[in-house]
Amino acid sequence: MNRSTAPKNPATFHVKSFGCQMNVYDGERMAEMLGARGMTAAADGADADLVILNTCHIREKAAEKVYSDIGRLQRDDGARPMIAVAGCVAQAEGSEISRRAKTVDIVVGPQAYHRLPELIAKAGRGEAAVDTDMPAASKFDALPGRTKQARPTAFLTIMEGCDKFCTYCVVPYTRGAEISRGWTAILDEAKALVDGGVREITLLGQNVNAWKGQDDKGRVQGMDGLVRALATIDGLERIRYTTSHPNDMSDGLIAAHGEVEKLMPFLHLPVQAGNDRILKAMNRSHDVGSYLRLIDRVRAARPDIAISGDFIVGFPGETDAQFEDTLGLVEQVRYAQCYSFKYSPRPGTPAATMDGQISPAVMDDRLARLQALLNAQQAAFNAATVGRATRILLERKGRHPGQLIGKTPWLQSVHVQAADFTIGDLVDVDIMGAGPNSLAGAISRRKAA
Ligand code: 5AD
Ligand code: SF4
Repeated sequence: MNRSTAPKNPATFHVKSFGCQMNVYDGERMAEMLGARGMTAAADGADADLVILNTCHIREKAAEKVYSDIGRLQRDDGARPMIAVAGCVAQAEGSEISRRAKTVDIVVGPQAYHRLPELIAKAGRGEAAVDTDMPAASKFDALPGRTKQARPTAFLTIMEGCDKFCTYCVVPYTRGAEISRGWTAILDEAKALVDGGVREITLLGQNVNAWKGQDDKGRVQGMDGLVRALATIDGLERIRYTTSHPNDMSDGLIAAHGEVEKLMPFLHLPVQAGNDRILKAMNRSHDVGSYLRLIDRVRAARPDIAISGDFIVGFPGETDAQFEDTLGLVEQVRYAQCYSFKYSPRPGTPAATMDGQISPAVMDDRLARLQALLNAQQAAFNAATVGRATRILLERKGRHPGQLIGKTPWLQSVHVQAADFTIGDLVDVDIMGAGPNSLAGAISRRKAA
């Protein structure tokens, strides 16, 4: 490519997704849509005519990343690809992005990316191509159906948006109000994925367990009903879902964990902090006691369930003692794996202007202490599986010849010599060893639990 401006009629594209799994899913849907329109995926941004940066706005660092990436897309000879900024930074900052980065040709929000083909044509004509609408009609109705998948695992968005308005969080502003997709659309998409080779589906939503709808007989259903219906699909072997809100964890969904074999024993249930005053200031609408009782009930339904979570340290006003309460909660729950973050003030959220913003040094110290504890719990969880037989879904090749990497029901990666098996197989393995982030397994002659 040797031109100083962007291509007018891009033939190849590359999507780079940042942030959460829903962005990964959106990125895949964009790629499938452009593929259906005759464009070809390029292996990386360096040789694509169109680069889509599918961005994340959840913390400042993530949001700023887009600008350094845009800079890096300039090529030595002065040429550059057509550049589209999609995702939550596009939604939050809109046309401000093209003012700050002149080489951005397209700005498209997470609810408008089905209109990318028109926006590409507009940009090709040199017109402003900004679309941050949140249209009433769902983008999903306008997207082409799912095609053959490269991997045996897939994401499936079943609801989007958030009505919870935690005081630190941008999601209710960038993704909009909670909207559940329809029963039939979800089941059809799941069947298409399974027909395309998928064996495990992870249902996605910012508050996935708030999903509600009506089944094909007009009966009101929650996520447990949806999971039970998905479990009847032949060839679909595993069902997961993320991310859940404690207040939407219904009795039915808890019961499903004990009854639906295909529903994997893993629950990502963020608590964010372990002190009631901080939880109140965060507007979490649950307290420490109700969270711990919920964990007890989930464990009563499915004793081996792996619990995961998200934490924020250094929320405005958090004292040392309140932070210690978070460590105390972690000690009580015993997590399998977690994500933890330093509080990042986000423009437009209530917490950004609260008194008592915490210094970076204090946040660093708290995060290090929390992560040391969480890492130790993760290592203990992994170590406890050594000596057990379990079933893994082989997902990708390992580094050594004949080595494949699969996942346990509890979402741990297992490296195994499995020359006689292929990606997509479910195999029984004995767990021989455990590291902090993965397990070593051997093909088992025992039947896995
Ligand atoms: N600062 C730090 N972490 C945040 N999260 C959401 N908003 C912020 C913020 N402003 C974290 C929460 C959430 C996860 C996706 O990101 O822990 O669960
Ligand atoms: Fe953000 Fe809270 Fe909604 Fe989660 S529940 S997306 S943290 S506002």
